[in-house]
Amino acid sequence: MKRREILTAAMTTGGAIAGLTLGTGTATAAPAAGRPPAAPGLAKKDTLAFAAGSEIRIGTALSGAWAPETSPYLQEGPYRDIAGGEFTSLTAENHMKWQPLRPDRDTFDFTEADSMMDFAAANGQVARGHTLLWHSQNPDWLEEGSFSAEELRAILREHIETVVGRYAGRIHQWDVANEIFHEDGALRAQENLWIRELGIGIVAEAFHWARAADPQAQLFFNDYNVDGINPKSDAYHALIQDLLADGVPVDGFSTQGHLSTRYGFPGDLAENLQRFADLGLRTAITELDVRMDLPDGAAPTEEQLAQQAEYYRRATEAALAVEGCESLTVWGFTDAYSWVPDTFPGEGAATLLDEEYRRKPAYYAVRGGERPRRPSRPDALTH
Ligand code: G3I
Repeated sequence: MKRREILTAAMTTGGAIAGLTLGTGTATAAPAAGRPPAAPGLAKKDTLAFAAGSEIRIGTALSGAWAPETSPYLQEGPYRDIAGGEFTSLTAENHMKWQPLRPDRDTFDFTEADSMMDFAAANGQVARGHTLLWHSQNPDWLEEGSFSAEELRAILREHIETVVGRYAGRIHQWDVANEIFHEDGALRAQENLWIRELGIGIVAEAFHWARAADPQAQLFFNDYNVDGINPKSDAYHALIQDLLADGVPVDGFSTQGHLSTRYGFPGDLAENLQRFADLGLRTAITELDVRMDLPDGAAPTEEQLAQQAEYYRRATEAALAVEGCESLTVWGFTDAYSWVPDTFPGEGAATLLDEEYRRKPAYYAVRGGERPRRPSRPDALTH
């Protein structure tokens, strides 16, 4: 597959753009282009970005709820400096999902999403779009509405065209379809509103609509527990081959990489990504974190931190070993803002930095472990 020009995020100036309200005809223009992004290769030494160089985009989820006053990248100096200086790619942890974007049927509220895109552009970073078609974090008006099939299809099409179109040329990769299979490889035909009401064909349509809205973005399937070769990743491998044969514009497959030291490391990670690369796809690791058991809120032991670092090192090595794996993103970089403790009580400390932003062994494992360097390519990432 022809390597696509990686686009830098166009700069925007000014603060967050007010929400876009459909129906009344009032709409704010998409953010205008502003200052060019930082020149490539100017990452400070002693950062992940500097170590990653042009080999791979090293990214992080940008933590944020749904109200700017609670988003650390807008509030906290250390968080801002690290988010903007250590990484070359950002993903909105929540800001670009249906629930915060779509308070009601007629409204698109881009306040937080624009704010994140402004932050990325100001730091010369690309962004990953997350996510367009998912069974989770959909607003109640959508999940509980009584829409006909054609209304529902029109709602999804309008969403994709509006959201993807707004950031056209500024999103490196979109997670178009997120988590559409169960662990056994069966389709989430009941949980996923879109598939339940419209059938699996809606997934192909979503990719076509996204391609038309932003021909430059790489369009991905994304899921968890597809790090290794298993019934779930097999299901994607089979589906994607069928879609490609039908001319559906699928560009990539990514595994989220939510790991736990309670379980073994997925040793066939590189092999699994490689088989998607062999289909001509790009791959990525999109939400890497390694949680650990912390009974009664205990601090991690040295042994736990060492095991965590080993998992991060092996994941980084796998990403670098697979041609076309252009992006490795951690799902948050500090234990101060991690989804893990709320979701997995008794587990935590899953990220690269502790709650006081101190680097853990895992940070150095991602940055500088012995790694199989791919031969540099003339078209290697330049920024
Ligand atoms: O910000 C609101 C707050 O205003 C409100 O009062 C509160 C009421 O519950 O909710 C807050 O929103 C929370 C949001 O995170 C922002 O903090 C939601 O409750 C909470 O459910 C939501 O959790 C997110 C989760 O996805 C939802 O499924 C996590 O932050 C986020 O890290 C997690 O990310 C997912 C990826 O999108 C897909 N892959 C798995 C990954 C982990 O679940």
